[in-house]
Amino acid sequence: MELLKGKTALITGGARGIGRGIALKFASEGANLAFSDIKYDETARELEEELVAFGIKAKGYASDAGSFEDSEKLVNDVLNDFGAIDILVNNAGITRDNLLMRMTEADWDIVIKVNLKSIFNMTKAIQKVMLKQRSGSIINMSSVVGVSGNAGQSNYAASKAGLIGFTKSIAQELGSRNIRCNAIAPGFIETDMTARLPQDVKDEWVKSIPLRRAGTPEDIANVALYLASDLSSYITGQVISICGGMNM
Ligand code: NAI
Repeated sequence: MELLKGKTALITGGARGIGRGIALKFASEGANLAFSDIKYDETARELEEELVAFGIKAKGYASDAGSFEDSEKLVNDVLNDFGAIDILVNNAGITRDNLLMRMTEADWDIVIKVNLKSIFNMTKAIQKVMLKQRSGSIINMSSVVGVSGNAGQSNYAASKAGLIGFTKSIAQELGSRNIRCNAIAPGFIETDMTARLPQDVKDEWVKSIPLRRAGTPEDIANVALYLASDLSSYITGQVISICGGMNM
């Protein structure tokens, strides 16, 4: 099946982890693939090669999703290179965990900038394109923590909860133009982001997950594929948890 044949997708923070998993899944379903990352290194170059091997057009861009100027330039560059953008995945995200008592203003500001302001930057830049096309699917990467909160992650949880409010508002603003906007709330997914957590913390988490395992980038990519494709053409403004039942 080629669920995304003829479509062009843009994924932020696409070089590693969940973004990379989504890029590979979309390319395997026929989408042309543009991805950005703040770190445009060997890993990103390798991904570009892997994507091209699917017989689609692929290109990676060095860009900071937290920067308004970078985001505008990225959207213009992708449009020039690909001619259209049908799917946007706002995936770039970071953590700077600490209890509020020890959290610095810098840790608060950078998490809000990269996780939340980036969504505004990218969606604002891309809406002109999608409005003209009269179609589009925007997928924002939230977190179960944005729904339930988490001690030691007040900055991260606030950014991921804010993103849900943004998702629902944009779904209402752009729905009449056939532009859908949904959020995914992953639970505990094995990537570089979670690799730095102590093993005992990870073991405890897994015990509390009904499906008794951590998720993989592919678990997220499968749902992102559904939300990007026409299979979900009557779904907008929703938050879909992918967490092995961790949050119910
Ligand atoms: P990761 O750390 O493995 O990969 C994130 C990618 O984003 C990296 O390639 C990084 O270089 C890039 N990036 C960071 N700052 C950026 C910026 N300012 N502009 C552009 N790119 C930037 O993280 P992971 O786990 O793949 O997370 C992806 C998204 O999923 C994030 O938004 C994260 O908050 C969210 N998420 C992850 C969970 C997990 O358990 N791994 C759980 C819930 C949500």
